[in-house]
Amino acid sequence: MLLKADASGYAVPAFNYSDIWDFIAIFEAAEEMRAPIMIASVPPVVNAISPEICGAWGIAAMKKSTALLCHHLDHSFNVQTCVEAIDNGYPSVMIDASKFPLDENIAIVREVVDYAHARNVHVEGEIGLIKGRGLEGDFIGNKFLAEVEDAVELAKQSGLDSMAVGVGTAHGFYEGVPEINFARLKEINDATDVPLVLHGGTGIPQADIEKAIKNGINKINIGTIIHTTYMNAMRAELNEQGDNQYTIKIALPVKDKIKEVVKNWIKVCGADNKA
Ligand code: 13P
Repeated sequence: MLLKADASGYAVPAFNYSDIWDFIAIFEAAEEMRAPIMIASVPPVVNAISPEICGAWGIAAMKKSTALLCHHLDHSFNVQTCVEAIDNGYPSVMIDASKFPLDENIAIVREVVDYAHARNVHVEGEIGLIKGRGLEGDFIGNKFLAEVEDAVELAKQSGLDSMAVGVGTAHGFYEGVPEINFARLKEINDATDVPLVLHGGTGIPQADIEKAIKNGINKINIGTIIHTTYMNAMRAELNEQGDNQYTIKIALPVKDKIKEVVKNWIKVCGADNKA
């Protein structure tokens, strides 16, 4: 999926879900837009729902999909969570060992790659750091920028399939305008041949998304706007319908609001009608 996006000049959006209603919203949006997408869960969600149940949702959705759908474990900080996800049918996992020195990062990613590749599973690693606070972890500070040589070494020595790069994006809403280091992104893209991933999609202006794609990004992660749309729509429905209501009557209009946001992001990434 990512290589095809790279060759055709768009990015595969990866959307974070927290439960079945945003999961279904993401699934339906991709179907209706004929878009190749990733549908992703972070470890707190996987642990709360269970790897077995999340894995089964993913397997069922990938089977039912007529577009191109890939279930993905987002931002795992430990090998064991990746192993559990793989054992429960995730065809793609991310291991984020970027906070460790390069040699440890390489060793941890390598461990996941060895387990994953024996089972035909895709592995995303990370170099540099993603700023911000969130379920995926916190990082505040200025030493976020990925070094080109480190990116080359991680890609070469760990055998990963895609690589998230710290180039100035942040998880959560941005304070002000995001400052993405496009020059560094291009340098990393020129020096490596693995697909590159941009985390912290929410709040990045469309022009910057397009520029990021031109400079080597093939996958864009979108989470916060899904969560906040979900919560705000839920609050609005509860206010309007009252809380003495069937859950499904609240959930369906909420799902449709999330779906609109997902569709918009599919367009921003240029992924509509690419399945
Ligand atoms: P946002 O929550 O900022 O959209 O980022 C999502 C993300 O990068 C998930 O890995």
